[in-house]
Amino acid sequence: MCGIVGYIGDKQVQSVLLSLLGRLEYRGYDSCGIAVAGSSLKVYKDVVRVAALTEKAPQLGGTAGIGHTRWATCGEPSQVNAHPHCDCAGNIAVVHNGVINNFQSLRQQLISEGHTFISETDTEVIPHLIEKYYDGNLEKAVEAALRDVEGSYAIVVLTADESKLVVARKDSPLIIGIGDRENFIASDVPAILDFTNRVIYLEDGDIGIVTKDNIKIVSDGTEVDREEHKILWNVEEAQKGGYDHFMLKEIHEQPRVIRDTLVEYTQTAEPVVDLERMRDEGIESVLILACGTSYYAALVGKYIMEELVGVPVRVEIASEFSYYGQTLVRTLAIVITQSGETADTLKAIRRLKGVRCRVVAITNVVGSSASRVADQTIYTRAGPEISVAATKSFTAQLMVLYWIAMGYSKADARRLASMLLGLRQLPSKVQRVLDNGDIILQCARYLSKYENVFFIGRGINFPVALEGALKLKEISYIHAEGYAAGELKHGPFALLGENIPVIAIVAQDNTYEAMLTNIKEVKVRKSPVMALAEEGDETIRELADFVITVPRVEVIFSPVVNTVTLQLLAYYTAKERGCPIDFPRNLAKSVTVE
Ligand code: F6R
Repeated sequence: MCGIVGYIGDKQVQSVLLSLLGRLEYRGYDSCGIAVAGSSLKVYKDVVRVAALTEKAPQLGGTAGIGHTRWATCGEPSQVNAHPHCDCAGNIAVVHNGVINNFQSLRQQLISEGHTFISETDTEVIPHLIEKYYDGNLEKAVEAALRDVEGSYAIVVLTADESKLVVARKDSPLIIGIGDRENFIASDVPAILDFTNRVIYLEDGDIGIVTKDNIKIVSDGTEVDREEHKILWNVEEAQKGGYDHFMLKEIHEQPRVIRDTLVEYTQTAEPVVDLERMRDEGIESVLILACGTSYYAALVGKYIMEELVGVPVRVEIASEFSYYGQTLVRTLAIVITQSGETADTLKAIRRLKGVRCRVVAITNVVGSSASRVADQTIYTRAGPEISVAATKSFTAQLMVLYWIAMGYSKADARRLASMLLGLRQLPSKVQRVLDNGDIILQCARYLSKYENVFFIGRGINFPVALEGALKLKEISYIHAEGYAAGELKHGPFALLGENIPVIAIVAQDNTYEAMLTNIKEVKVRKSPVMALAEEGDETIRELADFVITVPRVEVIFSPVVNTVTLQLLAYYTAKERGCPIDFPRNLAKSVTVE
């Protein structure tokens, strides 16, 4: 949710911190702040975006500092609630991402011991606890403070001493970027790519003492080695590259993402997931868990795997999983998470591991928490996804699901060969969707005048309707609902009328006739109908008010071309309405609270 950064080296720290924060803004953007070490500790923070802070902040000097971009959870967005937070004397500054569950009792305790609090945040207890335990050794004080804390945290601690930063993590991401006589701290890899591609991922429970020449990591009181990783993402991938928004750039990257995934998997002889071995081990069903867009990818995955592999697949929303009395006998669990840091998904993984269920994670972020707790990780090749609204990661997740399913398909060789051909043709089909932008833009202009929209689909395109609605609502603020087309008559019909357009996803499969009937029913109730239909479908033109044609693909791949079309529709609609597309209100890219 929030983004935290730190720097120690020879550079002027303020500009480095602001540059790191600018790259992390997708994690939170209601306020931000920095603290710099020197003769005294200097803090500057405000309820503004990073660009405004860059303009407003006085020059603080110094070569060591910390920074934070906030997505408010505990305490409204305000200057006083913005990070960094300090102890009473203003000698210790802390930036924090996570949630301190027992902060109320810690706060009461600290107040009774004479500490004064000025913010409403949970974070503020941390500098006060460090102050309480400080006797000249900062890392020992941090260690003692964190023993009192229950919850999740990634923190960077700074004092006036410019020679070191102390960092720690538990259940929230934190990396150290290694430079040449300088080191960087960040919540996420894209922040540091301008400076270095050498990274250490901290483990839960690690405390790091970072100087400009050295990184010492301690776990349970013992010094430990943490492997250095080389990041293959490059700076350009984390920049807008001439597009107006990251979202548009990321939508346009999808042909490349599909190609990269194919190259990756067609080159390896090893099965992506050894379902055969699992069958031998008695695995009888698959459970897929995820949130948001990743959940909709999982729903598409159910259709793909049940059709191709013939195993029963259950899909659950990760945040609901702990409330079910699940039977998990002989089940393979797959979790899908772009960030690998979604708290609800991580909680579900822990529960699965607790009952000895084998967990395969599909994630986009190397070294993410999901990759570290799962038994096996499959990386999507989407590259960094900066826009809060997920686009290319959805397509990359589908590619992995196709590949897993095709690896174990019961389909005959001819079908599989035709599917492989279909997959190879997908990049050019998606490119044709992208080249169809003008028609989508016209439809978006029309849609942008409305406040309520339904998306309907059937079969493998029902999850596409859900994803289309999510994309539209989150970036254009139009209320949108995705529905199984057959369900409209069981309630939503009462709402239909000329003020509520219906977007129908019409595939050339066994759902086609039923979809036409649904469209007729909608038209009778005077709702304008916009249809996504395969090229060559003339019947649909007689029924729908608007038709967006999509390239012909095998139906199993239709979620890809249809979703990309709906991503563009959402994008242009939001643009027409003047919305802040990459940073929708109240949302954050990585949702690290339950
Ligand atoms: C929507 C969106 C979110 C995420 C969800 C899960 O555009 O981005 O719904 O899909 O927060 O995130 P991950 O996949 O990182 O677990």
